[in-house]
Amino acid sequence: MNIAVIGSGGREHAIAWKLSQSKSAQKVFVLPGNGGTKNNVNIDVNDFEAILNLCKHRTIELIVVGPEDPLAEGIVDYFADTPVKVFGPDKAGAKLEGSKIYAKRFMKKYGVVTGDYREFGGICQSEYFPEKIGTQDNIAINDTIVKMNGDCVIKYDGLAAGKGVFVCSTQEEAFAALEDIRQKYGVEASYLIEEKLEGSELSILAFTDGNDYKLLLPSQDHKQLLDGDKGPNTGGMGAFCPVPFYTEELKKRIENDIIKPTMNGIKAEGFNFKGVVYFGLMITKEGPKLLEYNVRLGDPETEVVLPALKSDLLQLVLSCFDGTLKDFKMEFNDGFFVDIVLASGGYPKAYKKGIPICGLEEAKELVFHAGTKKERDKFLTNGGRVLNIVACGNTLEKAIENAYKKVKLFYFDNMFYRKNIGKRNFRI
Ligand code: AMP
Ligand code: GLY
Repeated sequence: MNIAVIGSGGREHAIAWKLSQSKSAQKVFVLPGNGGTKNNVNIDVNDFEAILNLCKHRTIELIVVGPEDPLAEGIVDYFADTPVKVFGPDKAGAKLEGSKIYAKRFMKKYGVVTGDYREFGGICQSEYFPEKIGTQDNIAINDTIVKMNGDCVIKYDGLAAGKGVFVCSTQEEAFAALEDIRQKYGVEASYLIEEKLEGSELSILAFTDGNDYKLLLPSQDHKQLLDGDKGPNTGGMGAFCPVPFYTEELKKRIENDIIKPTMNGIKAEGFNFKGVVYFGLMITKEGPKLLEYNVRLGDPETEVVLPALKSDLLQLVLSCFDGTLKDFKMEFNDGFFVDIVLASGGYPKAYKKGIPICGLEEAKELVFHAGTKKERDKFLTNGGRVLNIVACGNTLEKAIENAYKKVKLFYFDNMFYRKNIGKRNFRI
C-alpha cells in the first residue's frame, strides 16, 4: 500500500519512519516533508485538491495527517467520497482542538473531569458559535481576575499554535494577557479564564475508530524553552516515555474520569473519528484533570512513543478503519525513550536559517528531522526546532544519559537545547 504522511516536522518524520517498517507499506510519501524524510512531495498541507491528485497519480490509499490545520480545514470530509482513507477526525470532531470553548463545553456535557472556567468574548472568532458567547462586560472580566488574584490561565478560543495560552500568577500578568489577546485577535476575541491547576503534566495518546480506543505509552512534553521549566512556551523542547508515576491505578482513573466519557461524547455527537485523541492532562492532588484535547499525535511526544511501540503502526491505523481495533494487540518495547530537541538560537523568536548541520553525514537511528532541508547532499537548518535526538535505556536515567551523549554528535552555529529533559521532580 502507498501512503502519504502530511506535515513537515519531527512528528511526521517519526510517523513515516514507523510506517515504512510495515511489511504492507510500499512507498511512504511525505507532504511536504523535510531534509530527513524520503519521497517528499512539495504540496501545501491545506491544498486538498493537489493532495487528491497526487493520490490518484501515485495510487495512495491512506493519508496520515500530522498537524491540526488540515483536520480543522476538513480534509477528512473532503476525501469522504473517495476511496482514500484519511486518518484523523472530520471537521466536526476537529473542533475538540480547534476551539477551546467548544472543548470545555464538550467536557462539561459528557462529564469529563476538568478545571473550572468562564467564557468571555463577543462575536465569534470561529464558525463554531453562531450565538453570542460569554460576556464582554469589563466589570465581570475584572471581577473574575481580581477574585482569582491573577492566578489563572487565559486561553484564546481558536487555533494559535501554542501562542494563545497564558499561564498567569499576578493580576498584572493576567491583564497583560488579555491585552495581548485583544491586540492579536481583535477586541471582540473569545477566550477562557481557567482555574490554574497544579501538579504534573502527562500526555496520553489514544488511537480510536470512533468507538473503541487503544492507548500508547504515557509521555511528557517539555514546553518551556529553558531548564527548570522557565522561559517562554515553545512547540516542545523534548519528551520522554513511559512516565514513572503512571501507575495502574492512575491509568484506571484517567480511563474512567476522562477517556471513557470522551469516547461516549465522540459517539453521541456522531463524529467520524478514526484517528488519535491526545489528552493533555494535569495530575493534581485531587486526581487527573483534562487541560486540553488535540486531535492528532503530539509533537515531540510522537518521537518517543512511536519508537516505544513494537506493534506495526500501519496495521494499527488500518484497524481503526476496518473495525478490528478492539482486538488489536498493542505491544511495546522495553525501556525508556528520551527525545532532546536541538533548536536554532533565538527560537521561539527570530532565528537564522540555512546554517550547515554537522553530524548527519552518516545515517543514525532515531534522529528525526524537524526544521531541516537538504541541498546538494548537505543538511541545513530550516526552522526553529531543527532535530530530535532520541535514545533509549533500561532506566529513565540511562536513557537521558544516552540521549545527551548522542546530542554531542551534532552541531550547528547557535545550536541550543535544554540540559535537563526528563529530570523533573514530579509534583502530585
Ligand atoms: P494547552 O495549549 O491548553 O495545552 O496549554 C499549554 C500549556 O499551558 C499546558 O501544557 C500547560 O502547561 C499550561 N496550562 C494550560 N491550561 C492550564 C491550567 N488550567 N492550569 C495550569 N496550566 C495550564
Ligand atoms: N506536544 C503538544 C502538542 O503536540 O500540541
